[in-house]
Amino acid sequence: MLPEVTATRYVTPLREGGSLPGIVEADDLGTYVMKFTGAGQGRKTLVAEVICGQLARRLGLRVPELARIQLDPVIGRGEPDQEVQALLKASGGLNLGMDFLPGALGFDPLAFETDAAEAGRVVWFDALINNVDRSWRNPNLLVWHGRLWLIDHGATMIWHHNWPSAATAAGKAYDASDHVLASFDPDVATAAAELAPRITTELLTEVAADVPDEWLVDEPGFDGPDALRRAYVEVLLERAATIGDRITVGERSADKPSQAPEWVRVRLNGKAGK
Ligand SMILES: Nc1ncnc2c1ncn2[C@@H]1O[C@H](COP(=O)(O)OP(=O)(O)O)[C@@H](O)[C@H]1O
Ligand SMILES: [Mg+2]
Repeated sequence: MLPEVTATRYVTPLREGGSLPGIVEADDLGTYVMKFTGAGQGRKTLVAEVICGQLARRLGLRVPELARIQLDPVIGRGEPDQEVQALLKASGGLNLGMDFLPGALGFDPLAFETDAAEAGRVVWFDALINNVDRSWRNPNLLVWHGRLWLIDHGATMIWHHNWPSAATAAGKAYDASDHVLASFDPDVATAAAELAPRITTELLTEVAADVPDEWLVDEPGFDGPDALRRAYVEVLLERAATIGDRITVGERSADKPSQAPEWVRVRLNGKAGK
């Protein structure tokens, strides 16, 4: 189970992405980035954060530690922003926290280099979870103490918004052409050979067990949280076996040119030897 703490102070909102997470302090003296159950995106975003974050870490990718955070909305009473007030009010009880990495920088592909092996592992993992939020527009990667850290897995596993179609979704390909690491020559084949065999029922079951029951109850078509956990396990297990063969990187045709800015295209073309 994830460690549980209680928020003691709302420090400030983070306005970079869309979901308005906040920085909070907690009773363990830790500082966390808090994702709210009351946010418009709903609790499935938090389920995705837990499953994908825990899975990434188990595969050796760097993800800040996750925690369950209890919130009494009263701690936001002095907060002047209406939007933040409403969010806190709607989020009493259990929320998700991610260890705040002080001084971390947003990943900038011009300022930071990674190698083909690491790029390959990240791209393969994003293909597995069908992450549409690691593009050059919106990298959701941080650089901290000189290393890459993965954050923000809320917009992944699209199939959990439509379970009847999940089996089909598991077979879908992944287009990594706009992936922020596409220009680092990601060695997807090696990553697949290394990581796919590690995705087992046991590992996925452990990861799914970290999702609080509260976020899994009342899903239509499922007989309780454990049945829903098994569905997450099944789709990811099935996808892990073959997704490595269905990833395209930087293969844009002339009639569908990349929308990427010039510097991304120069890098892509340069690395591809064109
Ligand atoms: N653990 C963290 N440590 C430091 N900064 C973070 C951390 N998590 C998020 N941030 C910062 O907050 C921003 C928003 O967080 P993110 O998880 O991407 O939420 P969203 O995009 O849904 O608003 C990030 O782009 C990043 O700048
Ligand atoms: Mg984000």
